[in-house]
Amino acid sequence: MNELIHKLANNHSLSLEEYEALISQRDEQSSRLLRELAVKTRREIYGTDIYVRGLIEISNICKNDCIYCGIRRSNTNCERYRLTPEEIIACSDEGYDLGFRTFVLQGGEDNFFTDEILGGIIREIKARHSECAITLSLGERSRESYAFLRDCGADRYLLRHETADKTHYEKLHPSEMSFDNRMKCLQELRELGYQVGCGFMVGSPFQTAKNLAEDLKFIETFKPEMCGIGPFIPHKDTPFKDYQAGTVELTCYLLSIIRLIYPPVLLPATTALGTINPIGREMGILAGANVVMPNLSPVNVRKKYELYDNKICTGEESAQCKDCLNNRMRKIGYEIVTARGDIIR
Ligand code: SAM
Ligand code: FES
Repeated sequence: MNELIHKLANNHSLSLEEYEALISQRDEQSSRLLRELAVKTRREIYGTDIYVRGLIEISNICKNDCIYCGIRRSNTNCERYRLTPEEIIACSDEGYDLGFRTFVLQGGEDNFFTDEILGGIIREIKARHSECAITLSLGERSRESYAFLRDCGADRYLLRHETADKTHYEKLHPSEMSFDNRMKCLQELRELGYQVGCGFMVGSPFQTAKNLAEDLKFIETFKPEMCGIGPFIPHKDTPFKDYQAGTVELTCYLLSIIRLIYPPVLLPATTALGTINPIGREMGILAGANVVMPNLSPVNVRKKYELYDNKICTGEESAQCKDCLNNRMRKIGYEIVTARGDIIR
C-alpha cells in the first residue's frame, strides 16, 4: 500500500485496478499516510488559507426525480419555495458585507429560471460586486444556455457527475435521465471557459470500490477545477430512505486521494460531511480539503432545501454561520480568507 500511495503522490496517476486496491484494502496506516501527503501537498499551494463560498439556495423546485434527492419532483411532502431575483441579489449584498467574494447560486432544475431571468440576476450581482466570482449549480442546461450565462458573467459551474459508471448512474436515476448528457454538459462547460466542478456522493446505494475507482480515474483525466464530494445521506421521503449513509472515514480517505491526483483542485469540506459528524468538516480539511461553503440563504427557506435528513446550518443567520466556521477553522490551525479563491495552477 505504501508503495502505491507514494506512486500516486509522485505521478498523480494510478491504474483503475490500483485505485480499486487503494480503496478496498485501506487501513489506518494507509489512511494516515495519505492524509499526511495530502495536507503537505495542499499546504505547498494554498498554505493554511481556506476559501469560503456563500451558498444561496435559490429554489427547491425541481423537474427531475433523482432517486436519492429530497427535493425530487415526486416528493409531495416537500414544501416548495423559490427566491425572487430581488431576494437573491439581497443575499449577495449581505454576503459581500460579510466578506464573501464568491456566490454559489444553487437550486433544483426549476423552469422559472430562464436564461433571461438568470442572466439579469448575474449581471446585477456583477454590477454591484465586480470583483466577486459567480458560481452556478443549476443542473443540466443546453450549450446555448451555458454560453449565454457565461457571457452574462458567470465564472464557474458545479455539476457533480454523481458517478462515472453508466450502469451505476442508471440505478440512481429514473430512465428519463441520461448519464451521457450529464457528461456532455461537463465537457461543454469546460469548452465555454467555465471553471468546472464535478463530484459524487460517497456511499451512494449500490456503489462499489470499482465504481469509486472509475470516479477517481475520471477526475484524473478531466482535472476539474473543483470537486464536490460528500457522503450520501438518506432522505426519509425518498425510495432510498432505508439505505445506509456514507461514512466520514471513506469520504476523508477519498478527499486525500483526490488532492494527490490533482494537487491544485479546489476541494470543499461539504455540509453533508458536517451533517454525519459534528466535526466532519474539520476532518475534511485535515484530510486535504480547502474550501467551505456556509449558507447565505434566507433563514425562512433553509429547512425546505432538504436534500437529505437532518441537514445542518438550517437555523442560523448567515453571519452566525460564517463566524461558526471561522472559529472551527481557527481551532484546527487554518484561516478563512476574503478572496475570490480561484484555482492556483
Ligand atoms: N440541481 C443541481 C444539480 O443537479 O446539479 C444542483 C442541486 S443538487 C440537489 C446538488 C447535489 O446534492 C447533487 O449533485 C447531489 O450529489 C447532492 N445530493 C442530493 N441528494 C443527496 C443525498 N441524499 N445525500 C447527499 N447528497 C445529496
Ligand atoms: Fe452554519 Fe456552523 S457553519 S452554523
